[in-house]
Amino acid sequence: MKNLMLREDALKGKVIVVTGGGTGLGKSISEMLSQLGASVVITSRKKEVLEKTANDISVLSGNKVLPIVCDVRKYEEVENMLQKTVSEFGKVTTLLNNAAGNFISPTERLSAKAFDTVVDIVLKGTYNCSLAFGKYWIENKCEGNMLNIVTTYAFTGSGFVVPSACAKAGVMALTRSLAAEWAKYNIRSNAIAPGPFPTEGAWTRLFPEPLQKIIDPMQRLPLKRVGNHEELANLASYLISDFSGYINGEVVVIDGGEWLYNAGQFTHFNIIPKEAWDMWEQMRKEKS
Ligand code: HXC
Ligand code: NAP
Repeated sequence: MKNLMLREDALKGKVIVVTGGGTGLGKSISEMLSQLGASVVITSRKKEVLEKTANDISVLSGNKVLPIVCDVRKYEEVENMLQKTVSEFGKVTTLLNNAAGNFISPTERLSAKAFDTVVDIVLKGTYNCSLAFGKYWIENKCEGNMLNIVTTYAFTGSGFVVPSACAKAGVMALTRSLAAEWAKYNIRSNAIAPGPFPTEGAWTRLFPEPLQKIIDPMQRLPLKRVGNHEELANLASYLISDFSGYINGEVVVIDGGEWLYNAGQFTHFNIIPKEAWDMWEQMRKEKS
């Protein structure tokens, strides 16, 4: 990454686990964390993907990146991943819950198993990791920091991604609940709610080719652009760093104003041309 907001050693001494760190946004964030001096552990289900990403990042940053295979749905695998992290680096300071599963579908077409599939990765995966890491920090009397990736429809709900919306809303509740309960142990808990940031994982599942011909996602975006990974990675770096030490229980939206733009009752009046406003103003003045 080129444009780092923090100075290059800002995360020196941090040991950060990024779930789903082999691809997409998890990979981009891991790259920046490593460039900022952190020891980074990336985890997911696919060994080869993790090994390649770990090597690529390590070559770029000069810092060690450890790939560990771990299915976040399985608590024993999460405990094992935590043990391996601690035995490699001597400690763990930060957990970034980023792993997710999602697909687009009318809800009535889903099987119960399909619903479980998404909720198990997103909500169960996040609480499995949070529980294991929290217990570790509390038992060892060390500070901890958790950052969860949700999405803006965690606030609003959304059709066609209902299992994901339910799970992300659960993660948001977990974020706020633990921020309150575990502050006494010096464990912080925050979340980021991104809008659209193109990744292969999300785009192939949520905007597949046939849908792109019917729906133009750009129409929803007030800034007329999607997010870039550096913008998100800089925000994550800040929330992970000690500079944000007094931020706890926050859910930071980074979506260029997308969800508010589409929630406002009259924002779509944007399509009314200037000439029409001029004419209307003229008529109003003539009447009064
Ligand atoms: C309906 C589907 C489906 C689909 C799978 N299923 N895909 N149902 N529509 N598109 C159903 C299957 O039929 C099956 O149910 C059940 O779900 C499990 O399917 P598997 O393929 O066996 O699951 P699995 O191999 O565990 O894979 C999980 C996965 C997959 C979620 C389906 O896509 C995955 O591994 N995803 C990980 C990465 C990912 O999703 N990234 C995107 C995150 S994007 P039955 O009953 O038929 O057996 C994101 C962005 C949010 O979160 C906001 C964007 C703006
Ligand atoms: P992605 O590349 O598909 O990332 C998802 C990651 O989760 C993958 O690396 C995947 O790796 C991992 N994963 C899935 N199931 C897992 C499991 N059971 N155990 C461990 N890891 C698992 O998609 P992305 O777009 O970067 O998404 C990253 C995060 O951002 C997600 O939380 C997503 O909801 C959120 N988000 C994305 C956008 C966006 O526009 N891209 C917007 C809002 C929120 P394996 O398959 O190897 O396990």
